[in-house]
Amino acid sequence: MMDDSKGRCQHEKIVEPCGPTDRPDGSSGRRLDQWMSLRLTERKKELTQERLARIREALSARSIVLIGLMGAGKTAVGRRLANRLDLTFTDADSEIELAAGQTVSEIFAEHGEPYFRQGESRVIARLLQGGPQVLATGGGAYMDARTRANIKARGISIWLKAELPVLLHRVRRRGNRPLLASGDPDKVMRELMEKRYPVYAEADITVESRELPHDVIVAEVAEALSRWLGCDTKQAAGKGRGKV
Ligand code: S3P
Repeated sequence: MMDDSKGRCQHEKIVEPCGPTDRPDGSSGRRLDQWMSLRLTERKKELTQERLARIREALSARSIVLIGLMGAGKTAVGRRLANRLDLTFTDADSEIELAAGQTVSEIFAEHGEPYFRQGESRVIARLLQGGPQVLATGGGAYMDARTRANIKARGISIWLKAELPVLLHRVRRRGNRPLLASGDPDKVMRELMEKRYPVYAEADITVESRELPHDVIVAEVAEALSRWLGCDTKQAAGKGRGKV
C-alpha cells in the first residue's frame, strides 16, 4: 500500500475514528482489527436490540409462558428473558404462595396436591390477564387442560426441555419440591417425564435446556420466539411453529 506524508499506510487512515496511533510498537494493523471487531460487536448488539424490540411489539398483550419439569430453568431463564425484553417477570409458584400465605410445601402438606392444583389453575388464569410479561409456571401447571387452553388463548408457550441428568443435578441442590420429598428423585422424575413430556410437546416452542450459562439458553429462546412470531421474516405474527 502507498505511504502518505505522515508515513502511514493508506489503510491506517481508516482507523482515524479511533484516534491517532499511540501504541509503542505502532501496530496499526492490530488497531484496525480491534476497531473492526468493536464495530462488529456494536452492530451485533444493535441487531439484538432491534430483534428484542420487534418481539416486544409482536407480543402485544400476550404472555411468554415457560413450562417444563422441575429443574428445567424456567425461573432463571424467565427472569433473564424478561430483563432483556424489558418485561415484567412473574413466577406462578411465588404468586400462589403469596395468595395462600403459605409455601408450596406447606400447601401440599396441609391441603394435599388436588387443592394446590385448583389454586394453581386459578392463579395462572388471573396472571394471564396481565400480559405482556414472562410467566414461569410450576412443572405440573401445563398438565391441567384448562390452564393449557388459557395459555393458548393468552400466551405463547415455551417448553424448556431437559435431559434427566441435568434435571436431577439441579433439583438435588434444593429440597423445596414436595413431589421429591419422599421417594427416589430419579424414579419420580423418570415417571414425570414419561407422563408429562408428551403433553409438554404441545407447547408452541421447544428449546433444549442444557448445562450451559443461562444467557445462552435465553438467547436461543429469543431467537426461537422471534422466528415463531415472524419477526425475522416479517410474516404475520404468531403464524409459524418453531423448534430449536
Ligand atoms: C411441581 C413443580 C414445582 C411446584 C410444585 C409442583 C410439579 O414447581 O409447582 O412443587 O408438579 O412438577 P417448579 O417446576 O418450579 O419446581
